Amino acid sequence: MKIAMIGTGYVGLVSGACFSDFGHDVICVDKDSSKIDALHAGKIPIYEPGLDELVASNVSAGRLRFTTELASALDGVDAVFIAVGTPSRRGDGHADLSYVYAVAEELAGALDHEAVVVTKSTVPVGTGDEVERILNEKGHGLTHSVGSNPEFLREGAAIGDFKRPDRIVIGVEDERAEKVLREIYRPLFLNEAPVLATRRRTAEMIKYAANAFLATKITFINEIADLCEAVGADVQDVARGIGLDNRIGKKFLNAGPGYGGSCFPKDTLALMKTAQDHDVPLRIVEATVQANDLRKRSMGRKIVHALGDDARGKRVAILGLTFKPNTDDMRDSPALAIVQTLLDAGAKVVAYDPEGMEIAAPMMPQVEMADSVYAAAEGADVVAIVTEWDAFRALDFGRLAQSVKQRILVDLRNIYRPEEVTRHGFQYIAIGTSAA
Ligand code: UDX
Repeated sequence: MKIAMIGTGYVGLVSGACFSDFGHDVICVDKDSSKIDALHAGKIPIYEPGLDELVASNVSAGRLRFTTELASALDGVDAVFIAVGTPSRRGDGHADLSYVYAVAEELAGALDHEAVVVTKSTVPVGTGDEVERILNEKGHGLTHSVGSNPEFLREGAAIGDFKRPDRIVIGVEDERAEKVLREIYRPLFLNEAPVLATRRRTAEMIKYAANAFLATKITFINEIADLCEAVGADVQDVARGIGLDNRIGKKFLNAGPGYGGSCFPKDTLALMKTAQDHDVPLRIVEATVQANDLRKRSMGRKIVHALGDDARGKRVAILGLTFKPNTDDMRDSPALAIVQTLLDAGAKVVAYDPEGMEIAAPMMPQVEMADSVYAAAEGADVVAIVTEWDAFRALDFGRLAQSVKQRILVDLRNIYRPEEVTRHGFQYIAIGTSAA
């Protein structure tokens, strides 16, 4: 199949590279010439494990190309995927669809044959209808098919998620779109990945419902964690105890500082707004959004509390800034609110993150960036693990004990067992347990 992927952001680049790896002929289009130049030079603008090799091998096999020229990229394509951003609209939290509709307008003008146009960007229910209207009203009398094919990629694990998906969701209104999408994903059917073919609006809804459910699951366990602390129970055993029930499932029950990232915060907000507009308030999602927002600052206060509720002039070492490991993404990272809370309390903050410091530094100019865990911990009154990078899972506590001023470890990701830390003379404060 000949595929054009519009947008070389996270989703577009991973999807384009994976489609080409399936053997399709893929051309990725982006208006940003610096991105395309970088890709031509073999540089990947995002941090995603394995993506550089995947891009390089498919470029050299001649199956993956990059361009800024939309019109020539559309030459003979069977399918065009729209994978541009849908950020939260300033002021009201609705998804900003201006980039998606601008692409639809351009496609209407530039497509000289009938094709299947698919939205991969996360878009509110009904967006596909509008894309179809634009294409077919302004498209030289051609009738294009419009489908929805949401992605469920986790940053840091995106290639694996793409190639071994739990499911593929295809939302279509006609047979042509279904046929083309099934053909594109045929290599995965051979791996028996379940395919759910449904109507377009339903596919759009599935994406939001999935993310809202996962965000709710995390928020649920985070609130249970707070209660565990209050009553003297252990949230990790509670998570295991409920997760072994197949109806609940073990995944996404790790209590932590609150969810962040490019999807959950934006998508929960957009879903909430759509629901309010239709007079169908989603009270559970609203509560999730509010609880998660409050949680981030409360995690900052937890660190202040570890300092005897007086952080003024104290030195806090933050380990991990990105919203999760294996990414350099700082979008809606809990670290942003945590650091701000600490600065507000008068603390001096020093941070170390294996990949995120370059992006984080301008977002938190008052924070000193250190070049290692131990440099960050030098003279610290408290060390706090905010992101569970592998590099923090086997800390040399002997060395850490020599570096810090006070031996206090706040572990917001529960990556240690208390005795591993306390035997080195550290006070250990975790999430959802009263044991210290
Ligand atoms: C998510 C969805 O998983 C993915 O399907 C969708 O396409 C995009 O959004 P991503 O944002 O990359 O992917 O990260 P994910 O691994 O899902 O984590 C999201 C946030 O939840 C992170 O801040 C993470 O730390 C937090 N989280 C996750 C928890 O706090 N506890 C958990 O048990 C799981």
